[in-house]
Amino acid sequence: MRRIIVTSLIALLCAAGAAGAQTSASPSAAETVAARKAAFNLSAVAFSTMNAAAASPTPEPRQLSFSAQALARWAHALPGLFPAGTSATDMPGETTASPAIWANRADFEAKAAAYAAAADKLGELTEDTEAFKAQLAVVSDTCKSCHQPYRVRSGH
Ligand code: HEC
Repeated sequence: MRRIIVTSLIALLCAAGAAGAQTSASPSAAETVAARKAAFNLSAVAFSTMNAAAASPTPEPRQLSFSAQALARWAHALPGLFPAGTSATDMPGETTASPAIWANRADFEAKAAAYAAAADKLGELTEDTEAFKAQLAVVSDTCKSCHQPYRVRSGH
C-alpha cells in the first residue's frame, strides 16, 4: 500500500515537472516557494514514518533506508530552493522564510549542511535500531536550529 502511494506520488511529481518544463526553463519565485513548502511537508512525513517504523517491534531496515535517503537528498538540495527574492518580505503571506537567510547566507548554508550530514549518517544506521533512534533526535535538533533563526513567527 505504502509502495503504491510512493509510486503514484513520484508519477505525479514527474508529470508536474514535465508540465513546468514546457512553460519555462526555470521555475518562477512562486513555483520555487511552492516546491520547497511541498518538500518540507514531505520531509516531515518521511520523518514521522521513520519514527513510527523505528518504534515498531520489528523495524524493516530497507523501509528506514528509503526514507532516510529521501531526507538526505532533500537536505542536500535545500539551499538551492532559497534564491534571492523569495523571502517573507518579498512575498508576504506566501512564505515564512525570514530575510535573515539572505543576510546570513553562510550560516544558513552551514545549518543546511549540518542537517544534510545528520541525514546522511541516519542512512548508515538502518541496521541498528537504537543508534538509528538516537540519530533521529540529532536530525530533529538540526530542523529546530534552523527554524528558530530563519522562519518568521507570523503566518504559521
Ligand atoms: C537550513 C534550514 C532548515 C532546516 C535544516 C530545516 N528547515 Fe524546515 N523550514 C525552513 C524554512 C526557511 C522554512 C520556511 C519555508 C517557506 O515558508 O518558504 C521551513 C518550513 C518548514 C515546514 C513548513 C512548510 C510549509 O508548508 O509552510 C515544515 C513542515 C518543515 N520546515 C519541516 C522541517 C523538518 C521536519 C526538518 C528536519 C527534518 C526541517 N524542516 C529542517 C528551514 C529549514
